[in-house]
Amino acid sequence: MRAFSEAAARKKKKIGLIPTMGGFHDGHLSLVKAAKRFKKRCDLIVVSIFVNPTQFGPREDLEHYPRDLEADLKKLEKLGVAAVFAPEAAEMFPPGCRTYVEVDDLSRRLCGRSRPGHFRGVATVVAKLFNIVRPRLAFFGEKDYQQVLVIRKMVKDLNLDVEIEQRPTVRDKDGLALSTRNSHLKPEQRPAALSLQRAFEVARKLIVSGERNSSILISNMREVLRAQPGAEAEYITVCHPETLADLEAVEAKTLIALAIRIDGVRLIDNLFVDLVSLERQEKERANKSTGGKKAESKGKKT
Ligand code: PAJ
Repeated sequence: MRAFSEAAARKKKKIGLIPTMGGFHDGHLSLVKAAKRFKKRCDLIVVSIFVNPTQFGPREDLEHYPRDLEADLKKLEKLGVAAVFAPEAAEMFPPGCRTYVEVDDLSRRLCGRSRPGHFRGVATVVAKLFNIVRPRLAFFGEKDYQQVLVIRKMVKDLNLDVEIEQRPTVRDKDGLALSTRNSHLKPEQRPAALSLQRAFEVARKLIVSGERNSSILISNMREVLRAQPGAEAEYITVCHPETLADLEAVEAKTLIALAIRIDGVRLIDNLFVDLVSLERQEKERANKSTGGKKAESKGKKT
């Protein structure tokens, strides 16, 4: 990988990196496709596939994390990737590795509360990948919103010479965010997984109708999850989209994030609320569905 990166640098070719743990779905592939559209800013696309043991807790699913390198390579075949970097765990973390990257504060919030050490593992492996692959640009998905924030902060604080691009969450037709862990869900658990979407929809509607109080939004979302057998809320938060600090009330730009467990399968998702565009969307939606005067008056209410 080093030889590849050095040869690319000599030819003045810029690398775009997509770090992954494999188990590809359309969310991963959307990052590769996005990288291809960034032709002016990266000439060569590198995908890394590495199930990083340092970001899994002792009781987490490292052993059972879906791995199928052959299938992953096949999915990349038609996408015009210049290289795939798939190191072994012992190469990335040989015995005696004792240096870690810790992004304070941000790493302790949301998912960090129930997964201590998770973001330390993520930041460390991503820093190592950046040093090995030497990308100009690296692509991450907004499904893991906190992860993007942690990586951006690490890049800024450590003066790393790489630009971070974040891309929107790719969803199934029914709205469930694609995730490698969805493959652990049994068909009968799908309704429980979809309660995530219903909870966000309830929050969205409340916000559109004027509700701003975070506790009220959270308790309504909790109610949706409680009504669905099998889905257990790990956290629901209304927070600042940059610091992830809890907000008492929804502000112009706010993040609502949640994590649930379904029989041990952990799913996360988030809703980015931008009050101005939310109100615009609602007006457009009302205009489309009712038309004419009625829609106008509904638009004014919001
Ligand atoms: P992994 O879960 O394999 O995800 C790899 C990348 O795909 C991440 O940037 C993630 O946010 C993005 N992704 C996952 N699901 C997505 C979806 N539905 N829509 C859009 N993007 C999606 O995240 C990791 O691996 C690891 O923590 C890693 C960064 C590789 C470090 O080990």
